[in-house]
Amino acid sequence: MSVVEIVDHPLIQHKISLLRDRNTGTKEFRDLVSEIAMLLCYEATRDLPTEEVEVETPVALARTKVLAGRKLALVPILRAGLGMVDGMLNLIPAAKVGHIGMYRNEETLEPVEYYCKLPNDINEREVFVLDPMLATGGSACDAIGQIKKRGAKHIKFIGLVAAPQGLKALHEAHPDVDIYVGALDEKLNDNGYIIPGLGDAGDRIFGTK
Ligand code: PRP
Ligand code: URA
Repeated sequence: MSVVEIVDHPLIQHKISLLRDRNTGTKEFRDLVSEIAMLLCYEATRDLPTEEVEVETPVALARTKVLAGRKLALVPILRAGLGMVDGMLNLIPAAKVGHIGMYRNEETLEPVEYYCKLPNDINEREVFVLDPMLATGGSACDAIGQIKKRGAKHIKFIGLVAAPQGLKALHEAHPDVDIYVGALDEKLNDNGYIIPGLGDAGDRIFGTK
């Protein structure tokens, strides 16, 4: 059974409220996206396997646990997913990073892939696909389909804000993929924007509007 989790930790709720504010500027927005990604990473890595080791503390021998060395990869969906990479790497610095480029055709809202470069051993890695916004779900569904075609078998999706349609579409298209998002919003508007949402995540991260 896969996980579909709205990670409504108070720190995440607080930071997403700041993100939503139209008066939040580019630098603060970028910092918040990174911090929220780090908090979501904490939750999405909860089931990583561990193994017992012995460590000498200054006063005794401790039997304790470390990560069992599972190989990890991050795949941000360009552009906005890039804003989540540093926060994730703060907690899992050994992860390799692939990239997949998707944009939505503004009229049809259909996703268009324009770039894909993944680690060669993606089939051996647990893959975290990153995108702040899950609106219609088209971009995430297609990106994950492409990543699976290239051999990935264990995939989790991490997003900041989802619309009900996007969450449903992603879960139905890829029922094996665990989904972690920070907020589930009300709906999409006629232009495919999440309501209330936070606007265009890519533009707000990169200051392009
Ligand atoms: C945004 C966002 C997602 C996509 C979500 O990207 O970052 O990738 O829209 O919408 P969907 O769920 O309806 O597919 P956008 O197309 O604006 O590209 P950008 O990140 O390059 O700005
Ligand atoms: N992409 C965004 O950046 N924001 C939305 O609300 C929907 C898609």
